[in-house]
This record gives sequence, C-alpha cells and structure tokens, in this order.
Amino acid sequence: MFDQFYRKLLQGKVDGSSKPERFKLTKGMLPPESGLVYDFIYEKEMQRWVSWHDTINQDHLTIPSDAKVSQLLIPTAETARQDFFLRSCIDHDVPMLLIGPTGTGKTALTNATLTHLPKDKFIVNTVHFSARTSAGQAQDIIMSKVDR
Ligand SMILES: Nc1ncnc2c1ncn2[C@@H]1O[C@H](COP(=O)(O)OP(=O)(O)OP(=O)(O)O)[C@@H](O)[C@H]1O
Ligand SMILES: [Mg+2]
Repeated sequence: MFDQFYRKLLQGKVDGSSKPERFKLTKGMLPPESGLVYDFIYEKEMQRWVSWHDTINQDHLTIPSDAKVSQLLIPTAETARQDFFLRSCIDHDVPMLLIGPTGTGKTALTNATLTHLPKDKFIVNTVHFSARTSAGQAQDIIMSKVDR
C-alpha cells in the first residue's frame, strides 16, 4: 500500500533508496500517524501537516436560504483534495485525467472549479464522448468551438 511504502521511504527503509546521511526529518515533518498520507497536505509556510478537512474555508459552510439543493456542493475532504490538485495542474499546464467510481462527484467538482477560473485567462471547453464518437467527430467538435 502506498501509505506504508511512503512512510518507509521517508525513514530510508526501502531497499535501494536509503536516506542520505545528512538528511534528517523531524517528527513534525513526517505525516501524522492518525490517518493515511492521503488525508493530509503539507503546509510549507507553517511547516506542518494539515488534514484536508481543516483546509475547508469555513465561510462557505453556511448554506444561503435561497440556494437550490440541486446546485449545492457540499465541501468535504474529498472536494478540497480534488480542487487543490486540479488547480495545481491548471497552474502548471499539466494535463489531468481523473478516474474513480461512478457518482462520486468527479464531474460536479471539476465543473465547479472550472467555472471559478478567471474568464479573461481561461476558456472552458467541454467535449462529451460516447462509445461511438469517432476521431474525426472529436476533431470537428473542438474545431467548431474555436472557429470565429
Ligand atoms: N460534495 C458533493 N456535494 C453535493 N453533491 C455532490 C457532491 N459530490 C457528488 N455530488 C452529486 O453526486 C452526483 C454525481 O456526481 P457526478 O456526476 O459528478 O459523478 P462522476 O464522478 O462524474 O460520475 P461518472 O464517473 O459516472 O461520470 C451529482 O448530482 C453531484 O452533484
Ligand atoms: Mg462524470
């Protein structure tokens, strides 16, 4: 499991990847034992690990009285994590492929993040694929959207 491997790697206990002599990690630099490495993000400024749950902006937790239930996105550790990685990839021009079980909010979350991007810098282009979409059709769809 990656969690165990990563912790072993940090301790220099993985065969063939021993830790350099001068390299020391204090306890605070190691991911907390109270969960998996996936549950935390390292805050460089504060030099500590924070759980994804604690990164949720508390201001967004109150639901406006006129909100439509169908448009609500409930902030969870998972939404914080996905938003972070999607933004990091966008900031560094890295393509991202998101995979996971159906109905877990991949599309809903991605759309939420994309709609909040600055309009003067980004153009969101959604292309739907089915089992019958041909390469030519995909090209046409993309071209039709960039045509002026
Ligand atoms: N954190 C959340 N808050 C509110 N609604 C959510 C949340 N996560 C998922 N949903 C809802 O769950 C439903 C399914 O999500 P979505 O369509 O994004 O799943 P998906 O991961 O893209 O699935 P698929 O792999 O089938 O495309 C949507 O109606 C979405 O609004
Ligand atoms: Mg989807």
